[in-house]
Amino acid sequence: MNDTKLPSDPGLALPAVVITGGTEGIGLALAEEFARDGHNLVLVARDKAKLDRTAAELAGAYAVEVKVTAQDLTTLEGCAGVEQAVRGFGFYADVLVNNAGVMSSGFFQDEDPAAMRRMIDLDARAVVDLTSRFLPGMLARGHGGVLNVSSMVGFMPVPYQVVYSACKAFVLSFSKSLAYETMGTGVKVSVVAPGVVSTALHTKAGSLNSRYLLWFRAWTPEQVAKLAYRRFKRGWSVTMPGFANRLGAFVARLVPDFMLVPLMGWLFRVRDDEGNVLWPRPLPKPPESKHAPEPTPLEAKD
Ligand SMILES: NC(=O)c1ccc[n+]([C@@H]2O[C@H](COP(=O)([O-])OP(=O)(O)OC[C@H]3O[C@@H](n4cnc5c(N)ncnc54)[C@H](OP(=O)(O)O)[C@@H]3O)[C@@H](O)[C@H]2O)c1
Repeated sequence: MNDTKLPSDPGLALPAVVITGGTEGIGLALAEEFARDGHNLVLVARDKAKLDRTAAELAGAYAVEVKVTAQDLTTLEGCAGVEQAVRGFGFYADVLVNNAGVMSSGFFQDEDPAAMRRMIDLDARAVVDLTSRFLPGMLARGHGGVLNVSSMVGFMPVPYQVVYSACKAFVLSFSKSLAYETMGTGVKVSVVAPGVVSTALHTKAGSLNSRYLLWFRAWTPEQVAKLAYRRFKRGWSVTMPGFANRLGAFVARLVPDFMLVPLMGWLFRVRDDEGNVLWPRPLPKPPESKHAPEPTPLEAKD
């Protein structure tokens, strides 16, 4: 029998926490929580230089190993690359944190279809893909967990963030159902649904002048991460940071849609710097398709 053990040998592999979007915002704050508790980390994002800087800072501050892998999780290859990288580092995923996400604000009709597909790929599909890659190992070991990052907008329909809020509702539903299925296995599945958090997400999405940012208290990523991490360790399946958010989610269940949806529309309406409401771009008649032409079956074969 060949006793030579490769780093990828599961018998030799060490546990690590895989965190997507671990270079900034909530993901970085979660990385700090896990590192402070002595967990080795694998950080995933697209920007390699930023990943390296973050890893050096975390490894310098905490006595843990921090590895990085630059992957675009909107692609199938990116998700497969995470699994390969984890194995290549001589780790196995004891915990998976599905945190990476993008948001978009505006009228659905003005959205770039390709950008919307990427948002669905990152915010919803990658969550399922990565979970399906790492959860079976956790179940076999009877240990570990998945911590998903959803949002308060997952609890209700949100005009002007229609695709983002639908993705977050998906993550919420997926996580709650999976938490039930995995009950008693030793594996925790948990979801955190923050309200407004002071990160660059809103600037990137172009929602800076929307009322929800003025009306709701913004949590810091560190506050959210601390609570999410504590609740994850204790096995809570759903964490909603803050009383106001919990109340909001509760009220959203009681208020009929004919009142709830306009209220959300009022809060999330996109506005310019002076606070004036923005309107959708006028469409040419008949509107041109923004979708790239589909290849015919014959072209696709070539
Ligand atoms: N901020 C809020 O108010 C808030 C509220 C509720 C829920 N959330 C959720 O919390 C999560 C984190 O949000 P955040 O506010 O911390 O965002 P953020 O500060 O913008 O950070 C996003 C992270 O995701 C990574 N990322 C983006 N696109 C990626 C891709 N295609 N492949 C791999 N990594 C990618 C980014 O790194 P690269 O750009 O280098 O790839 C970055 O590390 C998201 O799921 C978001 O929906 C946020």
